[in-house]
Amino acid sequence: MARRRACVAAAAALIMLLLLAGGGGGGVHCLRSRTESGSTILELRHHISSSFSPGPNRPSKTSRGEVDGGVLSSDAARVSSLQRRIESYRSSSEGEEEEASKLALQVPITSGANLRTLNYVATVGLGAAEATVVVDTASELTWVQCQPCESCHDQQDPLFDPSSSPSYAAVPCNSSSCDALRVAMAAGTSPCADDNEQQPACSYALSYRDGSYSRGVLARDKLRLAGQDIEGFVFGCGTSNQGAPFGGTSGLMGLGRSHVSLVSQTMDQFGGVFSYCLPMRESGSSGSLVLGDDSSAYRNSTPIVYTAMVSDSGPLQGPFYFLNLTGITVGGQEVESPWFSAGRVIIDSGTIITTLVPSVYNAVRAEFLSQLAEYPQAPAFSILDTCFNLTGLKEVQVPSLKFVFEGSVEVEVDSKGVLYFVSSDASQVCLALASLKSEYDTSIIGNYQQKNLRVIFDTLGSQIGFAQETCDYI
Ligand SMILES: *[C@@H]1O[C@H](CO)[C@@H](O)[C@H](O)[C@H]1NC(C)=O
Ligand SMILES: *[C@@H]1O[C@H](CO)[C@@H](O)[C@H](O)[C@H]1NC(C)=O
Ligand SMILES: *[C@@H]1O[C@H](CO)[C@@H](O)[C@H](O)[C@H]1NC(C)=O
Repeated sequence: MARRRACVAAAAALIMLLLLAGGGGGGVHCLRSRTESGSTILELRHHISSSFSPGPNRPSKTSRGEVDGGVLSSDAARVSSLQRRIESYRSSSEGEEEEASKLALQVPITSGANLRTLNYVATVGLGAAEATVVVDTASELTWVQCQPCESCHDQQDPLFDPSSSPSYAAVPCNSSSCDALRVAMAAGTSPCADDNEQQPACSYALSYRDGSYSRGVLARDKLRLAGQDIEGFVFGCGTSNQGAPFGGTSGLMGLGRSHVSLVSQTMDQFGGVFSYCLPMRESGSSGSLVLGDDSSAYRNSTPIVYTAMVSDSGPLQGPFYFLNLTGITVGGQEVESPWFSAGRVIIDSGTIITTLVPSVYNAVRAEFLSQLAEYPQAPAFSILDTCFNLTGLKEVQVPSLKFVFEGSVEVEVDSKGVLYFVSSDASQVCLALASLKSEYDTSIIGNYQQKNLRVIFDTLGSQIGFAQETCDYI
């Protein structure tokens, strides 16, 4: 309780300095934020969901492998869920309405997939309360758990209570926000299914592949980002929520590319630009989510280079950020594949491991194997099939990994984002990339390969920028 009060009291200060001692499960802290010449900067932290932190009843010697294996298979689930969502948007924008609604029925509304893998959180103000939410670039609607709770997972901040917020208002069914939600929820589902004179509220239902869900009504309230108010922010007020992976958070912040996302709703304040620097996983490290395009808020050590976003025309392109991947180099060696001539990929904050179509993955893997040929191989680990036993070696030359995007934009992956240490004795060290099942799937640049980079999403300019940055909230 004392901790909570400290958090709220500090929130009143001009520049918020919100720090909570770790302790307790959930790995959720109250996070700091500030404004700086027009930009709003939120501290980002790794979120370790409570279901994975070794609790009092779990042996503290749980090997890292055991824990990470669960996270990586959830990651695979997110990847396949994203494939279905991309496909459903694609077919609806091609006008195959029937096909789209069939897909929508099979996969009710998969938004953001599995939250076990959505592992960055930030703290915002909503109404009179604080909410620590998971940050996701592949989700549209921002939602928090709301009173009166039919069912809610544990969270560290107090529950959002509409009745104690004078600025709260439900969004009616016949509003444009509710129409936008209809698009976001995919064809075949209606937010006004129970539409009648008595119940004009616009309801939402998001379900995640692991059985987690959030249901409630669409509402408006004041969103506060580092002391700056966004009036009438549209969000989901979730009265029925389920999902251990949310582990202590209040809900989710949707940073996708659609009308209901936070990015679109704060267009006047931040011009449709946001960026992040994702910190390393080690506890204690933090990064930043910057809303607005003031580059003085960045701490980049190399110039920002921009590549074009690839956009499908039409309103149904979905929330995803597509880029044109034209090449990959491994240790300076270009990997050859005809696929690169039409290399559409999405960049995602919530997928961990970069996942490539089989032909490209195999070519990249072959290049790594040839450059690491002197090292003994080790068994595969979860979705990672190329592993080495590096025990006892004093020095290992790790080949560099570079993505090349349209416009000859080269992005070098941080050296810590190339290999994945399953065990601390280095007896199983894996290439941190995975293969998709089908050539027709969409490749995804995951967050393991985005660490220590400033990644700038300029939705109006339709471009994405990259620069090296050692992530820290300063
Ligand atoms: C929505 O419905 C209400 C009640 O029927 C009506 O007063 C209002 O004008 C409608 N709003 C829109 C935007 O159609
Ligand atoms: C991707 O870039 C390549 C090379 O510049 C270009 O030929 C191709 O048309 C681009 N694809 C898209 C979808 O923009
Ligand atoms: C890894 O290599 C070391 C040193 O060569 C060896 O002792 C160990 O048994 C190997 N571990 C595995 C899991 O293969």
